Amino acid sequence: MLRKLDRDSKRQNRLIVVSNRLPMSLTQEADEHWTAKPSSGGLVSAMMPVLRRQGGVWIGWPGTVDASREQVAPALEQAARETRCSFEPVMLTQEEVEGFYHGFSNEVIWPLFHDLFTNCNFDPSYWHCYERVNHKFAEAVANVYRPGDFIWVHDYHLMDIADALKRMGLQAKTGFFLHTPFPPLEIFLKLPWRFEILRSLLQFDSIGFQTLRDRRNFLQCVRALFKLHIDGAGSVVQLHVTNQDPEWSTLFDNETAVERDICVGSFPIGIDYQTLAELAEQEPTAAKAARLKDDLSGRQMILGVDRLDYTKGLPNKLQAFRNALERYPELRGRINLVQHVIPSRSDIPEYRQLKFELEHLVGEINGQFTESGWVPIHYMYHSLPFEDLVAYYRAADMALITSLKDGMNLVAKEYCAAQVDETGALILSEFAGAAAQLQKGALLVNPHDIEQVADGIYSAFKMPQLERRNRMRALRRTVRTQDVYRWADTFLTVTTNRDPVHVPYTEDYLPRAQ
Ligand code: F6P
Repeated sequence: MLRKLDRDSKRQNRLIVVSNRLPMSLTQEADEHWTAKPSSGGLVSAMMPVLRRQGGVWIGWPGTVDASREQVAPALEQAARETRCSFEPVMLTQEEVEGFYHGFSNEVIWPLFHDLFTNCNFDPSYWHCYERVNHKFAEAVANVYRPGDFIWVHDYHLMDIADALKRMGLQAKTGFFLHTPFPPLEIFLKLPWRFEILRSLLQFDSIGFQTLRDRRNFLQCVRALFKLHIDGAGSVVQLHVTNQDPEWSTLFDNETAVERDICVGSFPIGIDYQTLAELAEQEPTAAKAARLKDDLSGRQMILGVDRLDYTKGLPNKLQAFRNALERYPELRGRINLVQHVIPSRSDIPEYRQLKFELEHLVGEINGQFTESGWVPIHYMYHSLPFEDLVAYYRAADMALITSLKDGMNLVAKEYCAAQVDETGALILSEFAGAAAQLQKGALLVNPHDIEQVADGIYSAFKMPQLERRNRMRALRRTVRTQDVYRWADTFLTVTTNRDPVHVPYTEDYLPRAQ
């Protein structure tokens, strides 16, 4: 497939990737000049290899309000020389970061799209700022656009951009991929700007979601708020719209009769399996993993890696771990929960509050169970280098993921890729997007059911090696065959050529009565 992408790159036009953040973090050095380091994360590892092969531009915020465009330009030019693409910064003011990023993106859309509407702060000034900043991003796109380019916009920060591009008169092919979930109708309806957001999304030529669940929710909202005709079945369907229908006429600018097809699909995002598995195989990683195991003196390691976010179900995880120690005393002194919490969005009050809550719970549980030579929870609040993370993945006997709702959850996939010895078990929330693809090998749990999660920990603890191996083998096969290259390739092929390529059809997970 990689060779195919190489061949195609000679024919294809440029790809313009647009996301809130550029794929690098900028730091100001002691002599005041700025340097750029590639950042990690799903979107970066997904898009960089594709851009490198195809050539193109990445447009986004460089993540700082302390520098001017001129100051960051040399660092971005240097980064461009090292890759095959260029980076176009969208500079934001402090006020825009407040209203657009902290405000509308992370205090309205983020909680709403994760079904947590009571966490939403529907401040109208946030919406106005979101519209303005999306317009600013659209201007950046218009400045670099050349006829024939394909514009691929990512994530919930930029749902209004295609509308802004249309209003500027840019006749470009555009695609949008939502990395988060899309909420069910009754939750989406609470959004004061529900018509504006849906109309804006429908200005894209293609819209991609992580799972069938999200696509179904989206189509249900479109169906409820507008009339529509849907063609096709399977992972990708076409919405057929014409300005002859009054409900749709607002989606067209001109007066003559026109029709548009909008392609709506589910494209579960993958990871760069090969690179991660190779890193996990390497000697330094193996040595680090062995040291981590030694540190636990033969106890089983339950690994948690989560951004500090209320959607990750961290309190539920800790409570389930406590429940497991209470109900299964044989686990005491024989397991450790090693929980890495990655700092995130700490300017938002809910996130700061959650940190206190977690620290309190960890203290309580460790206070309840610690014995001489055994502290049950190793809690670390930090960002850790990728090589260290992979060593943890390789060393861990179980990974425990209890998201209350998650677009995909790439930690689940990374854990499997790094499990080169195939000795680990994956305990995964049924509400993570990854549950649909990984339902064959993972132990799926409802994170709201503390006892069920505790039972999952106990089952994994007791699971015979052969069963672990068989399950992990199945998981790794799925993660390997549905990797990030396949994801990008499928989205681009379906949306730019409308080719009838085979898109893996992955049914959502539904629990069965026991
Ligand atoms: O999952 C959505 C997402 O925006 C990811 O793309 C990103 O890694 C994560 O949330 C954190 O994003 P940020 O720090 O930019 O808010």
